[in-house]
Amino acid sequence: MSASLHFLPGCEAAAMRLAAALGIDGRPVSVRRFPDGESLVQVAESGQTALLFCPLDHPDAKLIQVLLAASALRDRGATRVMLVAPYLGYMRQDMAFSPGEAVSQRLIGGLIARGFDGLVTVDPHLHRTARLEDVVPGIAALVVSAASTIAQAIAASVTADTILVGPDAESRQWVEAVAAPLGLETMIGEKRRLGDRKVEIVLPGTARAAARPAMLVDDLVSSGGTLLECARQLASAGAILRGAIATHCLADADDLAVLARGGIDRVLATDTVPGPASTIAMAPALAAAIRRAGWVEHGTGMARVP
Ligand code: R5P
Repeated sequence: MSASLHFLPGCEAAAMRLAAALGIDGRPVSVRRFPDGESLVQVAESGQTALLFCPLDHPDAKLIQVLLAASALRDRGATRVMLVAPYLGYMRQDMAFSPGEAVSQRLIGGLIARGFDGLVTVDPHLHRTARLEDVVPGIAALVVSAASTIAQAIAASVTADTILVGPDAESRQWVEAVAAPLGLETMIGEKRRLGDRKVEIVLPGTARAAARPAMLVDDLVSSGGTLLECARQLASAGAILRGAIATHCLADADDLAVLARGGIDRVLATDTVPGPASTIAMAPALAAAIRRAGWVEHGTGMARVP
């Protein structure tokens, strides 16, 4: 079955890295915004399998655009259209925390399930819904872990006495998965969110971080408030802050400057979301998962659009 990869504006570099890792063509999707805000989407010729690449950060407009592109790819002959959303937004709202709130994860997952035949993403923020399959019912769902890629990326810059620190119970899975191959100690906090940018964090046993290197680890950096609060507590315990590492970094250059002033002078992230900190390529891990699932077959000839 022939295959092609199509990507929305703004994520060309990561998309082309994945296309190269898969040995298939990467083709831009053109998006024109009308003055009233509507989107006109146009896709190039497609293979029988179309991979549509789009990180779903700042997702509202992009969600409509990927649904339009999926429909256009089917019109161009794709018999299956798979969404490659290395970052999948809207996963945190998995219940109504106050009466009347929309359960975004369920609704957005349902939309994706109706528009696509498969979804692959990296470290989705799943909490009460344990499996990605349950978010997108009825379609193929692949979760790629960034842990081993991140562990490799930091291996040369951590010493054996470094503690990896996660801010909350949800981060435990990611912190431990990065720490294990490196044989590092971990520390996991408890977090209470007080507002969009304000959190309260209790880090148990910070005394053991005194005079030791500490690196913050989380799945997602958004406002950076979580990292700043952890950094504040670690610094007052006498730890030597060695920056932060995250799977997804939504922070822009201004946010990173605020983090630097708070003692986090280095933030590293994977390239699931384009941005100044997003330097660790996930293409090899994504390509391996896509091939294992049989979405793109081995062999350049079969994989290329004729
Ligand atoms: C939430 O539980 C996530 O794992 C992150 O800790 C959170 O989204 C980070 O948000 P912010 O950077 O705005 O504090």
